[in-house]
Amino acid sequence: MSVETRISELTREGEAAIAAATTSAALEDVRVRFLGRRAELPNLLRGVAELPPEQRGAVGKAANQARRTLEAKLEERAGQLAAGELHARLEQDRIDVTLPADPLPAVGRLHLITQTRREIEDVFIGLGYNVAEGPEVENVYYNFDALNHDPTHPARAWTDTFYISQEVLLRTHTSPMQVRSMERQPPPIHIIVPGRVYRRDSDVTHTPQFHQIEGLAIDEGITLTDLKGTLLEFARAIFGPERVIRLRPHFFPFTEPSVEVDVSCFNCSGGVTASGERCGICKGTGWLEILGSGMVDPNVLLHVAGNGYDPEVVQGFAFGMGIERIAMLKHGVSDLRLFYDNDLRFLEQFP
Ligand code: DAH
Repeated sequence: MSVETRISELTREGEAAIAAATTSAALEDVRVRFLGRRAELPNLLRGVAELPPEQRGAVGKAANQARRTLEAKLEERAGQLAAGELHARLEQDRIDVTLPADPLPAVGRLHLITQTRREIEDVFIGLGYNVAEGPEVENVYYNFDALNHDPTHPARAWTDTFYISQEVLLRTHTSPMQVRSMERQPPPIHIIVPGRVYRRDSDVTHTPQFHQIEGLAIDEGITLTDLKGTLLEFARAIFGPERVIRLRPHFFPFTEPSVEVDVSCFNCSGGVTASGERCGICKGTGWLEILGSGMVDPNVLLHVAGNGYDPEVVQGFAFGMGIERIAMLKHGVSDLRLFYDNDLRFLEQFP
C-alpha cells in the first residue's frame, strides 16, 4: 500500500471516529489516537525527510492536508458537543422557584410584649380612644415638673433615673405624654400611649427598660365612676368576663385622688384554687394589682400651655400600666427577664 493510500485511509477513519464521538471526553481520545504524539499520521509527517526526494513533496503535502482536515473536523465537532453539553447542564440545573420549600421555613410570630400591647390597644380603641406616641428622651419638665412632682421627689434622683443632662432624661414613665398631648389638642381627649420607659432597676420583676401604656381621658363632667367603669371593661377584656376590680387609695403626684387598681384573680376563687390549694398567681390574696390611676390633678391641667384645659371646666382621669406586668400575670411568666433573653423555647410558647 502506498503511503498516500494509507494517509487517505487514516483521514477517513479519523473523520468517522470524530463523527462517532458523542462526548467531549470521547472526542479528546480520538484527537490523541489520530493526532497525538505517538499517532500514525504525525509519525508519517515526521518521517517525510527520510523518503526518497521524489516522494517527499507529494507525501508531505498529503499528510499535512490530512492533519489539517482532521484538526478542522475535531474543532467543529468539539464546538457541537460543548454546546450540547452546556444545554444539557442548563436543563438539569433548572430550578423551579415556584415549588414549595422543603422543609417549610419557620413562620415567625409576634413577641408576647407586642401581642399584649396590641391586645390592650384594641380594647381601648374599641372604647373610642386614640393611640399616641411620645419621645423616649424627654425633658425633666414633662417627666416630673409638669406632673406636679415635688422638687425632692425620690424618682428624680440620678440613682433612680437615667439622665442625659440636667434637663433631659430617659422617660421613667409614659405619663409625660399627658401634658404633651393636651398641648397638641383641645379637650375632649381620650388617648392611650404605649411605649418604652427606663429606670435604674434590675431584678426578677424589673429591667432597666420596660413598657407601659398610659391612658388619659379629659372632658366636662368626667368622674371617678367613669374611671372605674372604663377599667372594669379593660380588666374583663384582658382577664375574662367574670372579673371584678377594686380601687385602693394610693398616692401619685399627678392624680388626686389616686388609686391602685386590683383585678380579681382569674386562677382561683378568693385565693384558693379549684383543687383546694393556695393560688400561686395571686399569692393566695384573690387579687392582682394591675395599674395605677386617679383623677387628673388640677395642677397638671394648669401646666398645659393653651388649648383651654381650665380645671374649673374640664376634668378627667389617667391611668398607667406595665405591659410586661399584664403579660406576666396573664400568662404566668415568673421572671420578667425571660422577655428579653430571646430564648426561642420561651418565645414559642405564645403563638
Ligand atoms: N406613671 C406611674 C408609674 O409609672 C403610673 C401611673 C399612675 C400613671 C397613676 C397614671 C396614673 O396615669 O394616674 O408608676
